[in-house]
Amino acid sequence: MTSPSVAPTTRPAGALSTTLRVVVTIGALGVLAQALLAGQILAGTAGADAAHGLGGLIVVLISLVQLVIAIIAWRRGSVPARAAAISAGLFVAIVVQLFVGGGGLMAVHIPLGVALFGGYASMLATVWQK
Ligand code: HEM
Repeated sequence: MTSPSVAPTTRPAGALSTTLRVVVTIGALGVLAQALLAGQILAGTAGADAAHGLGGLIVVLISLVQLVIAIIAWRRGSVPARAAAISAGLFVAIVVQLFVGGGGLMAVHIPLGVALFGGYASMLATVWQK
């Protein structure tokens, strides 16, 4: 007797969702690195300011790549819509972060930096869930 076939409840991660997982993880580590560099700026370490400024540009680029991949993966049904929605929010927030950081608006830059961790935590949970 043949056993009835049972449809899998979760789809195995395809190349696109695996790529998104990697990019999101790198982005989260990038924001963490920015916080570490911010600590070095406040500690007066030479060059930390320039490294944080350059790091900011890199984090913006990563969040843009993440957004593009998340939209394509969502349209193909590989990830839920919220992966694209959170990625869009993160991209906008990180661009704002770049400008308020460059403008020295720390009253916004510090809380927004903390909020970015919340956004990335939610994004990591979304893309790494089984
Ligand atoms: C995640 C994306 C981030 C971006 C795009 C970003 C961007 C920037 C930029 C462009 C500057 C100016 C650098 C310069 O003057 O050369 C700056 C300064 C600074 N950022 Fe960020 N930043 C980010 C995250 C963070 C985080 C997470 C924190 C801390 C929680 C932080 C704390 C600071 C501090 C303390 C300064 C120095 C201000 C000063 O020199 O007076 N940043 N940031």
